[in-house]
Amino acid sequence: MKKIINKKLSLIYFSPTGTTRKILKEIADGMNFKKSIQIDLIKKDNIKKQNFTDNEIVIIGVPVHSGRIPLTVSNRLKNFSANKTKAILVAVYGNRHYDDALLELKDLVIEVGFLPIAAAAFIGVHSFSNSKYPIAEGRPNAEDLKIAKDFGKQIRTKLEENKKIQVPGNYPYKKRLEKLIVKPIIDMDLCDLCGMCERVCPVDAISMFRDKINIDANSCIYCHACVKICPQKAMVIDDERIIKSAKNLHEKCKQPQIPEIFL
Ligand SMILES: Cc1cc2nc3c(=O)[nH]c(=O)nc-3n(C[C@H](O)[C@H](O)[C@H](O)COP(=O)(O)O)c2cc1C
Ligand code: SF4
Ligand code: SF4
Repeated sequence: MKKIINKKLSLIYFSPTGTTRKILKEIADGMNFKKSIQIDLIKKDNIKKQNFTDNEIVIIGVPVHSGRIPLTVSNRLKNFSANKTKAILVAVYGNRHYDDALLELKDLVIEVGFLPIAAAAFIGVHSFSNSKYPIAEGRPNAEDLKIAKDFGKQIRTKLEENKKIQVPGNYPYKKRLEKLIVKPIIDMDLCDLCGMCERVCPVDAISMFRDKINIDANSCIYCHACVKICPQKAMVIDDERIIKSAKNLHEKCKQPQIPEIFL
């Protein structure tokens, strides 16, 4: 019978379209801890100072945005402090590349006091993917999830070690792209004012008042959470720069990437 580890496991993630969360859950399943909690960095309640002790283990998962950690996530993670809490780091990307995101995540968590003991890069369906320009559709697939679970099992053997890990990436990190002033548009003939888009937006860009929905393009990070969750398929980001990017990725990133593990 497998030994149950008696430490608290926290899954910390920012996952607008759900792929990062899915992969973290599978890793945690493989780790087979008795207790685990989830800290969803999209939820306002979790955007606060939190301290982690050396009697805890965390898995921290972030999506890759333009080869980096989204700035929103970086700022939210800086609220945390840790006292040599062991951390497993996961970057999830849409089959192009993760560039410097894993290195940036590693540096950031060390800065606030975590001890990275393992890391991985996994693939999720690209947030820009659509029926015309599919990109990494279906990822993470069954094979990805099996790798995630096996990764979790392997981590169990690493928990007593203090070996430092190396992850790919370069200094200086890839320059952040200038934020586009973009927002989704809503077909009000389809919208039934259910409010789901407002609830999932990680940056509070969407506000509803009676039968009106306002979206602030200055805040929107085009994460596509609202577009993907809308049950009426009433939302779309039809900005030509996003469409061009989706077309390019669809054409150039056809070869499926495979998950990478760093132990
Ligand atoms: C603004 C933005 C930029 C992105 N940049 C990259 C990138 O540089 N490389 C890549 O492979 N995927 C990129 N993606 C795709 C996401 O990393 C991928 O879809 C990931 O699975 C999303 O995670 P989530 O489902 O947890 O939100 C980007 C997505 C968005 C919204
Ligand atoms: S999720 Fe879709 S249907 Fe619901 S309020 Fe938003 S746009 Fe309207
Ligand atoms: S409004 Fe923008 S930031 Fe908010 S969920 Fe939609 S795409 Fe993401």
